[in-house]
Amino acid sequence: MRNCAPVRLLVEKPRQGIMVASEIALGIETIDAQHEELVDLFNRFAHAIENDAPLGDVEAIVQRAIACANAHFEAEEELIARTNYPHAEDHKFQHRHMRLEFTTLAGDALAAKGHDPVTLEDLADMRAILMEHITGPDRQLAEHLKAAGVK
Ligand SMILES: [Fe+2]
Ligand SMILES: [Fe+2]
Repeated sequence: MRNCAPVRLLVEKPRQGIMVASEIALGIETIDAQHEELVDLFNRFAHAIENDAPLGDVEAIVQRAIACANAHFEAEEELIARTNYPHAEDHKFQHRHMRLEFTTLAGDALAAKGHDPVTLEDLADMRAILMEHITGPDRQLAEHLKAAGVK
């Protein structure tokens, strides 16, 4: 992914509220790799917030997550344009909406204390938004891409 080189996966046991990359595989290699990277960054972010990691560390994860998310949305939107996806506008709208939601929620989570109930709610909301997009619109897009010969 442009501006988003792979990083070592966090080695830890999946816990409640943590996403597991294998659960979200859609069968398109580049998209799956990018989703795994985003899930890994979300898990790192949640772990850092919950463990009151130093602010600089959490901010670095957020910056990287934003760069990866932007690169990923661009990559999907290139495939959408290249294959004349019929739900192009809806899908792009959802990406714009997620950018806003994530920026707001990440800002809120950074501003609050790690074990603040609001922070935990923000993390749960971010997780739900990401999972709903991947298992809904992205799965639908992946089926279209496979039919168009994208691997
Ligand atoms: Fe995606
Ligand atoms: Fe998407």
